Amino acid sequence: MAVDMRGKDLVSIHDLSREEVMQILETARWLKMHQKAGGVFTPLVGKTLGMIFHKPSTRTRLSFQVAMYQLGGQAIFLSAQDMQLKRGESIADTARVLSRYLDGIMIRTFAHADVVELARYATIPVINGLTDLLHPCQALSDLFTISEKKGRLEGLRLVYVGDGNNMAHSLMLGGAKAGMHVVVATPPGFEPNDDVVRWAQEDAALTGGSVDIVHDPMAAVRGADVVYTDVWASMGEEAEHDRKAASLRPYQVNQALMNAAGPQALFMHCLPAHRGEEVTDEVIDGPQSVVWDQAENRLHVQKAILALVM
Ligand code: CP
Ligand code: NVA
Repeated sequence: MAVDMRGKDLVSIHDLSREEVMQILETARWLKMHQKAGGVFTPLVGKTLGMIFHKPSTRTRLSFQVAMYQLGGQAIFLSAQDMQLKRGESIADTARVLSRYLDGIMIRTFAHADVVELARYATIPVINGLTDLLHPCQALSDLFTISEKKGRLEGLRLVYVGDGNNMAHSLMLGGAKAGMHVVVATPPGFEPNDDVVRWAQEDAALTGGSVDIVHDPMAAVRGADVVYTDVWASMGEEAEHDRKAASLRPYQVNQALMNAAGPQALFMHCLPAHRGEEVTDEVIDGPQSVVWDQAENRLHVQKAILALVM
């Protein structure tokens, strides 16, 4: 039975039921197949998505814009710099006004609490396009890519190596909902947020999955189905780059680490990559890498999200 997701926000994967996660992935599978076969599907004719960006973006901005176009609607790019938000209009008032014009809002910002606030006051769906805490659209899309490549999700071992950041958090929450075994290998002091670890472990307990935080990357990747990494300094942390790099260098995903993982392991990265830092050219351009399919799938999975909630 299909779950009705109309009007729902997507702030965190933790807020979705397992059925909702699976429905997003199933819908994406159908949409991708339909599009590749030359089909057109336009359930969002006449609908508009507003996209607020407080941080740069290549993939998220483009894939949402194209997604709305392909679904028959339109998207409007809103640079936060050019909105009255910049001059102190409150998030609550912005939410109330945007709800009178738009049918959905996507926002990329710094403080996660700002997306929670926007969703609270908006009467239309709010989709989190990345905060300092979470990146749910990327992680849902990554689950889709993994299931395409491996034929399933349940029971797979996903090892995230690097900074315990927004990407690590959303992969933990997404993997837990899907019954995966998620292992996060970080240097001491770079572990993921305690609350997120707790939410993910609670979710994993319901699905037969698991979430573990460790410090030894070589031991962690052994037998992995997926080795995933992300940048050492996320957007907004540029000033901390050198300090973080010093601790994260031993966590680089290079050929030695992929060899320790084994030939079955996919290499994944949300992109943009800092080649030569968290990943070597050899790995990201190598036979185990699926990063370009991963980037493409943002489009299909976000189309699914938009078609389901708007
Ligand atoms: N992965 C991702 O969200 O990329 P952008 O920052 O380019 O949107
Ligand atoms: N952790 C990265 C992800 C970019 C898509 C950042 O927040 O900059």
